[in-house]
Amino acid sequence: MKTLILKPNEESINLACELLKKGEIVALPTETVYGLAGDSTNSDAIQKIFLAKGRPSDNPLICHISNMEMLKKVVSFVPDDCLKLAKVFWPGPLTIIMPKSDSVCSQSCAGLDSVGVRMPDNKTTLEIIEKSGIFFSAPSANTSGKPSPTNASDVFEDMNGKIPLIIDDGDCRAGVESTVLSLIGSTPTILRPGVITKEDIEKVLNKKVEIATGVKEEITKDEKVLSPGMKYKHYAPNCEVIIIKSSFKKFKNYVESDNRSGVFALCFNGEEKHLSKPSLCYGDEQNSKEQAHNIFSKLRILDKMGAKIVYARCPSSAGVGLAVYNRLIRSAGFRIIEL
Ligand code: TXA
Ligand code: MG
Repeated sequence: MKTLILKPNEESINLACELLKKGEIVALPTETVYGLAGDSTNSDAIQKIFLAKGRPSDNPLICHISNMEMLKKVVSFVPDDCLKLAKVFWPGPLTIIMPKSDSVCSQSCAGLDSVGVRMPDNKTTLEIIEKSGIFFSAPSANTSGKPSPTNASDVFEDMNGKIPLIIDDGDCRAGVESTVLSLIGSTPTILRPGVITKEDIEKVLNKKVEIATGVKEEITKDEKVLSPGMKYKHYAPNCEVIIIKSSFKKFKNYVESDNRSGVFALCFNGEEKHLSKPSLCYGDEQNSKEQAHNIFSKLRILDKMGAKIVYARCPSSAGVGLAVYNRLIRSAGFRIIEL
């Protein structure tokens, strides 16, 4: 199959709508990462998504809507907390897990009776949902296990020949996927951190929000998993990533004493000048948003540069930093060295 990459315009938007209506899947931009979209009500389309990504069928997809009327079609019940959050954060990078309606096919939710819903903040993608009338399920548009794609060429790298169309709307603003918040159960719980933080959500709901186990550490085999996505290998480039939790001085000594070929450093802005190894920066040490914006694309670039072993500076895990930390520890397969 030939994979077209088209900029957003009337023609490409109409083509995306037609493809979605026919049960095809297309890669669409969002403010977080690119998504691989298919009609949530069509199990054949959903099957194509799982196939193209090589995604395990027990990992549910997020449903994307463009207005609050659509929400009522997707869920069987709209909790008050969802309305409060939607008012402040939608369209935007917050996915809310709620009881599912029958219109979303069960394959999309991996057989669960809940569904994750969000309204993406991208003009073109919202227009495609409105024009087609189709709410779509979309995981990140990468091959399962790889870093999520934050630009059209990263999508093309993984999906060339597997899907008919990529809409290229440039770089994604946030760079990491949405915050996933479950409203099932008595306490709202963050299953995946993103640029909307626990504190942001607590302020709006005026109550305590929990963070699920597995967000900051590895889940052991017998632990109960709230979000199936958390148990899989994730965001891993081909190179081996190792996080070093230390001062820059100790980091530098450690990295420079490894004389194997293909050693690279993934560091904070400005530090590259002081390193004798090849290095890439992923943002200012104090700027978690900048780190979030860059982390996935830098991991992909390291592979292209031929990196074999990448020592990464450890990000802060406060506020938006938790999203960066959560992605990077998975990319590193939970290898952290504390010096
Ligand atoms: O920003 C995003 O959320 C992007 C863009 C494309 O919207 N999408 C995305 O989808 O990251 P995906 O499939 O890569 O990640 C969805 C995560 C997975 O960890 C999945 O297990 C979890 O959300 N999830 C989805 N539905 C769920 C449900 N009903 N219950 C628990 N976890 C759910
Ligand atoms: Mg993903």
